[in-house]
Amino acid sequence: MLTDKTIILGITGGIAAYKAADLASKLTQAGAKVEVVMTKSATEFISPLTFRSLTGRLVVTDMFEPASEFSIEHIALAEAADVVVIAPATANTIAKLAGGIADNILCCTVLATKAPVIVAPAMNVNMYQNSITQDNLAKLKARGFTIVGPEYGRLASGKVGLGRLAEIDKIIGTIKQVLDRNSDLSGKRIVVTAGGTQEPIDPVRHIGNRSSGKMGYAMAEAARDRGAEVKLVTAPTSLPEPAGMEVVHIKTAAEMKRAVAKAVAQADALIMAAAVADYQPKNVAKAKIKKKSPSLTLELIRTPDILAEVKGNFLKVGFAAESEDMVANAKQKLEKKKLDMIVANDITDKDSAFGSDTNKVTLISRDGKIDNLPLLTKREVADRILDKVVGLLKG
Ligand code: C5P
Repeated sequence: MLTDKTIILGITGGIAAYKAADLASKLTQAGAKVEVVMTKSATEFISPLTFRSLTGRLVVTDMFEPASEFSIEHIALAEAADVVVIAPATANTIAKLAGGIADNILCCTVLATKAPVIVAPAMNVNMYQNSITQDNLAKLKARGFTIVGPEYGRLASGKVGLGRLAEIDKIIGTIKQVLDRNSDLSGKRIVVTAGGTQEPIDPVRHIGNRSSGKMGYAMAEAARDRGAEVKLVTAPTSLPEPAGMEVVHIKTAAEMKRAVAKAVAQADALIMAAAVADYQPKNVAKAKIKKKSPSLTLELIRTPDILAEVKGNFLKVGFAAESEDMVANAKQKLEKKKLDMIVANDITDKDSAFGSDTNKVTLISRDGKIDNLPLLTKREVADRILDKVVGLLKG
């Protein structure tokens, strides 16, 4: 699996940098093309010559060349990479990446790559547990970075705690997993819906809901990163439009229904993460409704159930936001809408609330299998859902 893969090994300035020599050696022996990129402080801990000898390749360092967007080699390297792994990653590098700061050759390379990025933190236990570092790691996870480690054990300071670089074999295992996942949806067409629909009352008002669109956008991005051809049908959100996919903007449930019907032609899977309004005003006023009377009654009618009504031979995944009897209600929806899988979440749980960056969900598949996932970032939830989708598509 590692044969001929281009792996950028980023090394930053921590005492665990010496362990990266073992990683470089093992990856090279496994047949990978290991391109080492070192920060200046990493070169204080271990010599670039060590890596040049182990990998048989030139080592890119910050020592001779100031980092610049125009230094071509690392951009070419970033484009050629199948995966980037930063081991060890210091708190400083993690902070820079989380903030999008590219003042060294390694951070420039990471910003310029489309390949998946694995980060193996190693640092003092207090630095690791500091909420600033934890926030930065959460940001990276939310952007699809994979974090491996750190582990508990003896640290360079002599203290014992969480902060040791993950075992080299564990890092290699993660690289294999990420490479495997990176293309497991290639050639597959996936339609994702996102956001909350808006049902007009008059030209300036609508009935909406609190969906942020974050879960659906994370789904679409995760599917794209795993090689799928993605169509995203989205209701209005305040999120930036994701790159590398076809995006169709709609407002109402009826518009979403039409867009989904068109998008699913030849699709392999439809993932309906959108919060579709259940009711829409029966009549939409042509002019802005004036506040003349002390009360106003709106007559509402049901919207189409897009997921239940959509036709075609593709996998159907629905979401169920529940405030009571989560599993039982979600199972009922799975049956009623003839789904292959439903993703249920308890919206009374603050971690799963609309708008949050995390989600705690239960995956229920047609065969009755129930998976209670822990609290994860929405991106991680998306990947766990896609792991199942990949399995179902194979089946
Ligand atoms: O029935 P309920 O609204 O709880 O079902 C949720 C699932 O059904 C979600 O996947 C949602 O996107 C989808 N849905 C739909 N059309 C509707 C309402 C919900 O496709 N009118």
